[in-house]
Amino acid sequence: MKLPMSIVSVVSISAAVAATFAASGCKKTSGGKASIALLLPESQTTRYEAADRPFFEAKFKELCPNVEIVYSNANQVAADQQQQAEAAIARGVKVMVLDPVDGDAAGVIVKNAKAKSIPVISYDRLIKGGSTPDYYVSFDNERVGKLQAEALMEKLTSSGVAQPKITMINGSPTDNNALLFKKGAHSVFDGKVTIAKEDAAANWKPEEAQQLMEQFIAAVGKDGFDAAYEANDGTAGGAIAAMKAAGIDPKTKPTTGQDAETAAIQRILSGEQYMTVYKAIQPEAEKTAQLACALFKGEKPAADLVNDKVNNGTADIPSVLLVPLAVTAAGGGTTKSVADTIVKDKFYGPDTVAKICKGYEAVCQAANIK
Ligand code: BGC
Repeated sequence: MKLPMSIVSVVSISAAVAATFAASGCKKTSGGKASIALLLPESQTTRYEAADRPFFEAKFKELCPNVEIVYSNANQVAADQQQQAEAAIARGVKVMVLDPVDGDAAGVIVKNAKAKSIPVISYDRLIKGGSTPDYYVSFDNERVGKLQAEALMEKLTSSGVAQPKITMINGSPTDNNALLFKKGAHSVFDGKVTIAKEDAAANWKPEEAQQLMEQFIAAVGKDGFDAAYEANDGTAGGAIAAMKAAGIDPKTKPTTGQDAETAAIQRILSGEQYMTVYKAIQPEAEKTAQLACALFKGEKPAADLVNDKVNNGTADIPSVLLVPLAVTAAGGGTTKSVADTIVKDKFYGPDTVAKICKGYEAVCQAANIK
């Protein structure tokens, strides 16, 4: 990563000096701008670079101008994230916002940060590993799994599928969110469907989901499942590619997702994917920026910001939890339509409709998206 000169000068301050500054409550590192760290987990899922990072940076700069944001993306490699965090601590950051690749392994990062009096916000994914992050900002993630499963059940029921059989591909087992999505989904499916095959895509890799779906199809046959539970849009894309390669029309196998990625919305409008879960990233990132700036200034965050607490195995972490929504092409049942959510909220910015509809003009028209 290339660093602007102002950051490089912060780097040259020794960890010991930085620790003294932090311990003394002084918020400025001498010879350079004071800084905070934003550490995101991966970039194969579009949300991080397209939404989480820019929304966080814009809000934080507005609230805490003249404070540098040291940014790193770990590309879903926990050891790299560990190094990025150590580098940020050595650089003397005053607050750390961390979306962990591996929630248990990241406990060490929190402990190291706290040893230097650096508060940590656990962003989107919960940090565990015997640590006590100061705050947690996320969505109700068990609800995400429930929404996915409920929408799929509604679809199977309305299509008249008796005794449905489904396949399930969960997210990375090192991500606490993936465990919650799975728990929420099972709470709806169990006792109502036969789970023909189930596995987890390591590190949320779409290509891993594709391989798993190939194996599932080889094992149970094209008619061995009626629908596919995929934990997010990336893995849904992989699974749908495997269906197509096997000669299965994905329209015949309702498939779930999450994140409302543009590619997924296009698949939903053309009928290849049944649903996604829409999580408004902007408020998630902006509320985190508010917390980070308050912590930087040594202030108590606004009372209306924290609305819950979540136990991470060590302590109750004061939390900000947002509400996810299920989205299908036309809405109905427990789901809302693409027009009423992603389009209405301009989820991809002012040119949201153009982004969705380029090359998908007919399906956009059919869904009244303009
Ligand atoms: C996030 C999802 C994302 C997944 C893969 C989860 O922790 O909540 O939005 O799709 O990680 O990055």
